[in-house]
Amino acid sequence: MDSKVTPGGNAVFTIGDKTVEMPILKGSTGPDVVDIRKLYAEADVFTYDPGFTSTASCESQITYIDGDAGVLLYRGYPIDQLAENSSFLEVCYLLLHGELPTATQFAEFERTITYHTMLHEQFDRFFQTFRRDAHPMAIMVGAVGALSAFYHDSTNIHDERQRQISAHRMIAKMPTIAARAFKYAVGQPFVYPRNELGYADNFLRMCFAVPAEDYKVNKVLARAMDRIFILHADHEQNASTSTVRLAGSSGANPFACIAAGIACLWGPSHGGANEEALNMLKEIGTVDRIPEYVQGVKDRRYRLMGFGHRVYKNYDPRAKVMQKTCHEVLDVLGKRDEPLLQVAMELERIALSDPYFVERKLYPNIDFYSGITLSAMGFPSEMFTVLFALARTVGWIAQWKEMIEDPSQKIGRPRQVYTGPTIREFVPIEKR
Ligand code: CMC
Repeated sequence: MDSKVTPGGNAVFTIGDKTVEMPILKGSTGPDVVDIRKLYAEADVFTYDPGFTSTASCESQITYIDGDAGVLLYRGYPIDQLAENSSFLEVCYLLLHGELPTATQFAEFERTITYHTMLHEQFDRFFQTFRRDAHPMAIMVGAVGALSAFYHDSTNIHDERQRQISAHRMIAKMPTIAARAFKYAVGQPFVYPRNELGYADNFLRMCFAVPAEDYKVNKVLARAMDRIFILHADHEQNASTSTVRLAGSSGANPFACIAAGIACLWGPSHGGANEEALNMLKEIGTVDRIPEYVQGVKDRRYRLMGFGHRVYKNYDPRAKVMQKTCHEVLDVLGKRDEPLLQVAMELERIALSDPYFVERKLYPNIDFYSGITLSAMGFPSEMFTVLFALARTVGWIAQWKEMIEDPSQKIGRPRQVYTGPTIREFVPIEKR
């Protein structure tokens, strides 16, 4: 099979005696895309792309990544500008609506989110059914799926108002659910949200206040938490977002779709990597053990967690902001000499100059510094992916909403290269 791009902007595929002309689609930026939709109908062949490394599954206007240049844009705005100047709720509005809000729009949005943070009281009893040692991500998958049972009045995906209400409910309630997953694991009573607090402040208080002592929110830590949420808010068509879109393509309700996204995020190659990255730093322990550990990576006994990315073949722009945030948090907590930070910085220095990593374009990703930061803030490593899920919820919802509102949307249904047995006669059990 040979392929070429014609000057008229079509790609021509010749397969045996069949020739198919396919349009080349241009996005607002990024590589051109060959529209292969009529390939099967006209040439009787599928394309093969495990892991979807060369396949665009949808058209989207939400997030753009240039992996070679290390660029991440939400609705056109660079991630570092948003992390520096914006707030998570403002970013939520931007992702959902396409534009930054005016002051009036923001005040209304903030009020709506604030007033949806409580959970139905019955929902709190639902948590009690989990084992006391349940991983908080297991609780998240179950609890978010269960939202569809508690908030059934916002599950009609064809009703625009219900779509909006379910979006607001999830963004508002996710911190409350995440904090409850944490409290349940540590055996402390649930703390209710407080409306006078900001989104991140409220979350930190729900995690760390106890009836015997309230939690006074440290402004630097709240700002760091908010920034971590911004950095994780969306990342175009990654595994969990594609899962949400695929689940949603069948018409499933939004709560069920987001629960599916959380399940996918849990994996160590995706959202679970921050937990693994911190475990790795702890395992290395001291700077002098780094060369031995790096040798193990080169011998392919294990991977360097928090390094490498399917799309970024340059420094992950989120990792840069995360590194700065990590230093700010450790400073304010008086943990500047934290041994794990020393290990992380030295490991990064070695990896960025070692040919093994340089040749493979393996740079630190967002998870490399987030584990140290979250751990210093008081979160156990089991909570790291939960925080990722909390922040990514808005991205999943924005992507889900975009898909539902796209008139060309179809149920997702990949094809396969079948390599199993061809047709054969059934043999009764006594003759086998
Ligand atoms: N440590 C050592 N070698 C690696 C690593 C790593 N972390 N990542 C990739 N490689 C090597 C891999 O062995 C291969 O080498 P070779 O060509 O010699 O066989 C080459 O780099 C390409 O690897 P790949 O598996 O084809 O790359 P991928 O794009 O499929 O994998 C990845 C992307 C994120 C799964 C992978 O880099 C990885 O496992 N990283 C560690 C886990 C991690 O930190 N994940 C968080 C990703 S960022 C958060 C998020 O967005 O979810």
